[in-house]
Amino acid sequence: MTTEEAKEKLREYMALSQESKKEVRNDLRPVKTLRLPEYEKNRDIYTKAGLDAIKRGKLALLLLAGGMGTRLGFDGPKGTYPIDGDKSIFECLSDNLRRDIGDIRLPFFIMTSDKNDEATRAFFKEKNYFGYDPELIYFFRQEMAPACDFDGNLLFEGEDVPATSPNGNGGFFTSLIKAGYGEVLKERGVKWMNVFGVDNVLARIADPAFLGAVIAEKKSAAVKAVLKKDPAENVGVVCEKNGHPSIVEYFELDESQANQRDENGELLYCAGVTVNYLFDTSILLRTVEQKMPVHKVKKKIPYIDQNGNLIKPSEPNGYKFEILITDILQFFPDFLPVEVVREKEFAPVKNLHGVDSVDTARELLKARRDTDGD
Ligand code: UTP
Repeated sequence: MTTEEAKEKLREYMALSQESKKEVRNDLRPVKTLRLPEYEKNRDIYTKAGLDAIKRGKLALLLLAGGMGTRLGFDGPKGTYPIDGDKSIFECLSDNLRRDIGDIRLPFFIMTSDKNDEATRAFFKEKNYFGYDPELIYFFRQEMAPACDFDGNLLFEGEDVPATSPNGNGGFFTSLIKAGYGEVLKERGVKWMNVFGVDNVLARIADPAFLGAVIAEKKSAAVKAVLKKDPAENVGVVCEKNGHPSIVEYFELDESQANQRDENGELLYCAGVTVNYLFDTSILLRTVEQKMPVHKVKKKIPYIDQNGNLIKPSEPNGYKFEILITDILQFFPDFLPVEVVREKEFAPVKNLHGVDSVDTARELLKARRDTDGD
């Protein structure tokens, strides 16, 4: 990105982020989650419906792998991190896919960014695409956003090189269309897109029961959800906001809402989201025309100072701009949160140690091996 382009983009993102920040009174309501007992009761029906759609080529996969993985602090794309012995996160995900659909092959889109595109492609090639048909793998780059200091001045990461970062995971479909892959969806008659993050090593991908549930329940989007451990757990929860599907952070709920329970004593705002979604592609197509909110986030941004030295700040020194996947839901007429068993399907790798870390993910992978014997 040239300095001129960065300046223009910065103006655009600044304006959009101001708009997104405008105070509006939000009317929040709980949304019914497809709870485990009901999901299990109908599992056979859902699985059959989902498998049928998969065999008819109605599903495509989209891996969100454009993030910087800063919290992990690994020098390379997060998917290449050796999480299970020598096995990378990418390989784990590929194994998970095989567990669910065996040798069935679906179009597989992989979103990267300017920062990790080459390394990601090279890794897939080196690993022989984990046995997947390379003809069906479509890499594309997401958009980059310029970063600025707290006064709104562009930061530079090199001489005349503006500091940029991937612009969040919410622009995935616009970037896919810009890359020309709308044609692939059209030609193949793809109706559903399973969009998932790179860092949940227990993610079930192309899960037939999940797809069957969204079809059978006649919804246009769905997410795999884990029950909140307690009202204050720091996880986005599914709700309806001003009449539209939405995901709110726990701090957006007031205390009484966060603690609200139904007649069985269960939290009404119970569905914590994982980054594993199903979207109807015909509605995704309409979202490309929509203006998505832009979030201005305080971050530590490496930059060069007046003497040309690269400074890596230890405290936030400016803003990055992000568009979030959770903001795309407002364009869908309805939404189905599907409860899954946390220990079986949720092992996010965000940090090296502690909560949602390499350590916890390894434990959960081991537990799966102990239970399943593989
Ligand atoms: P996160 O926000 O958890 O991941 O994104 P991150 O940005 O890589 O990590 P940190 O915050 O810097 O530590 C969740 C998913 O969205 C993808 C990530 O790769 C991950 O799969 N993502 C995130 C993108 O594809 N692009 C982005 O710009 C941001």
